[in-house]
Amino acid sequence: MTSHTYSTRADSAEDDHEAAPRVEVNRDTRRSLPPDPKPIMECDGVDVYYGDFRAVTDVSLGFGHNEITALIGPSGCGKSTLLRSLNRMNDLIVSARVEGSVTFHGQSIYGKDVDPIEVRRRIGMVFQKPNPFPKSIYDNVAYGPRVTGMKVSSMDDLVEEALTKSALWDEVKDKLKDSGLGLSGGQQQRLCIARTIAIRPEVILMDEPCSALDPIATSRIEDLMIELRDEYSIIIVTHNMQQAARVADRTAFFTALAAEGSGDRTGLLVEYDLTTKIFSAPADERTENYISGRFG
Ligand SMILES: Nc1ncnc2c1ncn2[C@@H]1O[C@H](COP(=O)(O)OP(=O)(O)OP(=O)(O)O)[C@@H](O)[C@H]1O
Ligand SMILES: [Mg+2]
Repeated sequence: MTSHTYSTRADSAEDDHEAAPRVEVNRDTRRSLPPDPKPIMECDGVDVYYGDFRAVTDVSLGFGHNEITALIGPSGCGKSTLLRSLNRMNDLIVSARVEGSVTFHGQSIYGKDVDPIEVRRRIGMVFQKPNPFPKSIYDNVAYGPRVTGMKVSSMDDLVEEALTKSALWDEVKDKLKDSGLGLSGGQQQRLCIARTIAIRPEVILMDEPCSALDPIATSRIEDLMIELRDEYSIIIVTHNMQQAARVADRTAFFTALAAEGSGDRTGLLVEYDLTTKIFSAPADERTENYISGRFG
């Protein structure tokens, strides 16, 4: 795979706006592919409510197989809310309600015969703050396969495979019985990724997975995401535009606008396109203002 990293907006942006950040866009060859004609997941007219409050309004977009999709936008625009609606994590919030359609392989994940536990197994999630269980490193990874009753010929092999894929094996192979809580923040987040991939999901949702990490740990997780993309489809919420530009094939920009009637601010999808396009020639002025640091 050829990979060229160079600055796109910076030159023109600096001419007209001194504060414009440099957003380096990784333009590897996969970043110019047309949209997946059969996305692994699709939202169609998705609204998410908390009680009467509509936090997300009318979101329609598809997530490609073996792509990394970034969801970006200002705080409160509903990124986490939308992400949680993609694996029924919102079911755990009593007031939350999802309307519209969310499909996985063309099937609604909210269908009445669908088991939400199975949805969350196939569409895994990594959270903002690393949250290993207070158990050994080994047991953290083995936890999912054990509780879901996965048929496993060798748990040792499965643990090793998940830790290898999450780029942690070499650092922990001699201390698998030590507590997961004794690892550094970056290692804990890779342990959480290992825990997620141990149950063999197809999609991995990540909500600001690097926001608690230093730049070196962040860079490792970003490299890891790019490796994992060969096997998984990844949807990541990030506030770090450089991160979206570095890792994401496609980027969706959301904003929050006052809804007609109630006046409450509700999250809307403004623009969804190749990351290269979003960061170099966005179609919507609101995206332009956000990525150039003029808003949000
Ligand atoms: N559990 C909840 N109950 C009620 N309202 C909620 C809940 N979670 C989020 N909200 C509201 O929904 C809206 C969207 O919140 P959400 O956390 O999805 O935004 P976000 O884009 O992820 O923001 P941030 O970038 O700060 O994480 C906000 O107005 C928020 O107050
Ligand atoms: Mg959030």
